[in-house]
Amino acid sequence: MGKLWGGRFTGDIDATFDLFNASYSFDKRLFEADVVGSQAYAKGLHKAGILDDNEHQTLQDALAALLEKGRTDQAFIDQGVTDGVEDIHSFVESALIAEVGDVGRKLHTGRSRNDQVATDIRLYLRDAIEGIKEQLTTLSQTLIEKAEAHPEAALPGYTHLQKAQPILLAHYLLSYVEMFLRDRDRLTDVHKRVNILPLGSAAMAGTNYPIDRHFLAETLGFDDITYNSMDAVSDRDFVLEFLNAANLIMMHMSRLSEDLIIYASTEFKFVSMSDQVSTGSSIMPQKKNPDALELIRGKMGRVVGAYTTLSTVLKGLPLCYNKDLQEDKEPLFDAIDTVSISLEVMNTVIATMIVHEEHMNHSASRDYLSATELADYLARKKLPFREAHEVVGRVVLGSIDQGKQLDELTLEEYKAYHPLFEEDIFDAISLKSTLSRKDVPGGTAPNRVTEAIEHAKKRL
Ligand code: ARG
Repeated sequence: MGKLWGGRFTGDIDATFDLFNASYSFDKRLFEADVVGSQAYAKGLHKAGILDDNEHQTLQDALAALLEKGRTDQAFIDQGVTDGVEDIHSFVESALIAEVGDVGRKLHTGRSRNDQVATDIRLYLRDAIEGIKEQLTTLSQTLIEKAEAHPEAALPGYTHLQKAQPILLAHYLLSYVEMFLRDRDRLTDVHKRVNILPLGSAAMAGTNYPIDRHFLAETLGFDDITYNSMDAVSDRDFVLEFLNAANLIMMHMSRLSEDLIIYASTEFKFVSMSDQVSTGSSIMPQKKNPDALELIRGKMGRVVGAYTTLSTVLKGLPLCYNKDLQEDKEPLFDAIDTVSISLEVMNTVIATMIVHEEHMNHSASRDYLSATELADYLARKKLPFREAHEVVGRVVLGSIDQGKQLDELTLEEYKAYHPLFEEDIFDAISLKSTLSRKDVPGGTAPNRVTEAIEHAKKRL
C-alpha cells in the first residue's frame, strides 16, 4: 500500500516493521471522525482561498459519498486491513484520491496527521462520552425503579462486612445511584476538555495557511480551540481523564457486583439473579452462578490497565508528537467498549434481580443490629452515651452467652443491666422504629428515603 510519505525514501519498508507500525486495524474505527473532520477542513481550505469553488464542491461530494459508503459497508472498511493500510488517515486520503484524483491530493494542505489524529480522537471520544452518560442515566433509573418496587424491604447494613445497622433496600440501592450520578457529572466535566479543537496546529508549529480555526471549531461543534500548537498535538490528558472517570464507573460497578454476589449466596439469600444473567456448572447440576457480576468485577482490571498503559506511555515523552502516542487508541477503545457493555449488562442484572424481602427483613431483625438503638435509648434517658455503650456491650455479651436475640430478653433481664430500661425498650429496638428514627436528610428513615428518591429523579 502506498505511503503518505514515500518521496524521501528509496529502500522498501521491512514487512514486519510495516505491520508493527500500522494502526489501521484499530484506528479504522475513527473512520467517521476522520471524514467529518476532513469535511470541515475542506471548508476551512475553501474559506482560506486554497480550494476554489469547484475543487471544494468536488471534495465535499466525494467525502459525503465516502462517509455513506463507510457507514454502510463494513467490508469496504475492513478491506483496508487486508490491503495493509498504514492508518485511517491514509485510508481516507487514498480512497478520496481514487475517486477524484488530484483534488484529493490538496486536502492535506497545511494539515498534519498530528493535528488530524488529535482531532479525530476528540470527535470520537465526545460521542462515546455522551453514550456512556446515557447508560449511566438508564442504570440509575433502573436502580430507582427497583427501590420503588420494594419500599418496605429492609436488610442489614454492613461495616467490615459485619452486620451493623438495618437499612432500607431502597436506601442501599440509592447509594449506588449517587455514585453513578457522580460518574455522570465527572464525564460532563471531562467533556469540557475533550471538546476543544486542535486542528490548525499542523505538525507542531501551527499551519502556514490562513485557516480560520474558530470557523473550524464552530463547524465541528467544538467549544473552543487549543491555544498552543505544541501542546495541541501532544496532549492526551483528556484521554487519561476519561480513563480515570471510566475507572471510577467500573470501580462502582465492581463494588455493586461484589455486594450482590455475596447477597445472592445461599448463606445470605437476600437476592437471586435472573436466569438471563446466570450460568450453570458443567459438573455440578445444582449451580447457578452470578457470572455477569463476576465478569463486571473482573473487567475492571482491563480498565485500570488502560489507564496504567496510557499514563506510562505519556510519562517522559518529549514535546511534541511522538509515535508512542499511537498507543493511546487501543486502551481507550477497549475501555469504552468495556464500560459500555458492563453498564448494559449491569442494567439487565438489576432490572431482572429477584428480591427476597422476607429473608432480608428477617436478617435485619436479628444478630444485635439494634444494639446502637439500645444505647441511644439509654442516652435519651440522659445516661452519658459512653456509659450507655458500655452497658449495652454487656447486654450483647450476655445475650450471646444465653443464645438470645435482643428482643428475646425479658424486661427484668434488661433491668438487671440498667434500671433505666423500661417496657418501651421493645418498641425502641423494633425494626420499624430503628429505621424511622434515622430521620435526617440522607438517612434511611422511610420518609427520608422517599424524599431521596424524588431528589434522585430530579437529577436524572
Ligand atoms: N497513526 C498515528 C497515530 O495514531 C497517526 C499520526 C501519525 N503521525 C506521524 N507523524 N507519523 O498517532
